[in-house]
Amino acid sequence: MPEALETLQQISTASDSTMLNPLYKDTDGPSLAFLTDLLAQPFCRAWYLHREHHPLAAVWYQCHSDCAEIIDLRVREDERRAGVATRLLRASFDALDGVDKVTLEVRAGNTAARALYERMGFQNVGHRADYYATSQGREDALLMSVLLRETR
Ligand SMILES: CC(C)(COP(=O)(O)OP(=O)(O)OC[C@H]1O[C@@H](n2cnc3c(N)ncnc32)[C@H](O)[C@@H]1OP(=O)(O)O)[C@@H](O)C(=O)NCCC(=O)NCCS
Repeated sequence: MPEALETLQQISTASDSTMLNPLYKDTDGPSLAFLTDLLAQPFCRAWYLHREHHPLAAVWYQCHSDCAEIIDLRVREDERRAGVATRLLRASFDALDGVDKVTLEVRAGNTAARALYERMGFQNVGHRADYYATSQGREDALLMSVLLRETR
C-alpha cells in the first residue's frame, strides 16, 4: 500500500483515542485509558498515523519547555517492519514546534524499539538498573535522546 495514502492526525480528545483501540488490545506498556487521561494535561501531545481511517500507529509525548519525552509508541502488529514507526516519528518531530530534544526510556530487552531509535539517531544517555519487573525477574531501562536538528 503506498505510504502516500497515510495521514498524520493529532489525538486531542477521548473520542480520537477510541479510534486507537485496535493498537492497544495487548500491550505491556501504558494502557489506552492511562494515555487518554493524559490528554487533559497541557503537556501531552499525541498523534496517530492512519490509512483511510485504519489506525496504523500512535505516539504520545510529554512536553516540557524545549524537550519532549516519548511516553508511548505503538505500531499495529500486522503493520510492523514496514517503516510505519519511522514515518510517524519523523512526521511527529516536524509537528513538535519549539522542541529541540526528544528523550525516551526503553526496556533493555526491547531489541526492535532499540534498533528503531538507534537508526533514527537516538543515543544512549543513561540507564536505570532493574527498573522494570518481568516474568524472569528485573530488567534495566535505557535512557535515550536525540537533538531534532540532527534528524532533519
Ligand atoms: C518498536 C516498534 C514501534 C517498531 O515499529 P515498526 O513500524 O515495525 O518500525 P520500522 O518498520 O519503522 O523499523 C525501522 C527500523 O527499526 C529496526 N527494527 C524495527 N523492528 C525491528 C525488529 N523486530 N527487530 C529488529 N530491528 C527492528 C530496523 O532497523 C528497521 O529497519 P528495517 O526494517 O529496514 O531493517 C514496533 O515493533 C512496536 O509497536 N512494538 C511494540 C511497542 C513498543 O515496543 N514500543 C516502543 C516502546 S519504547
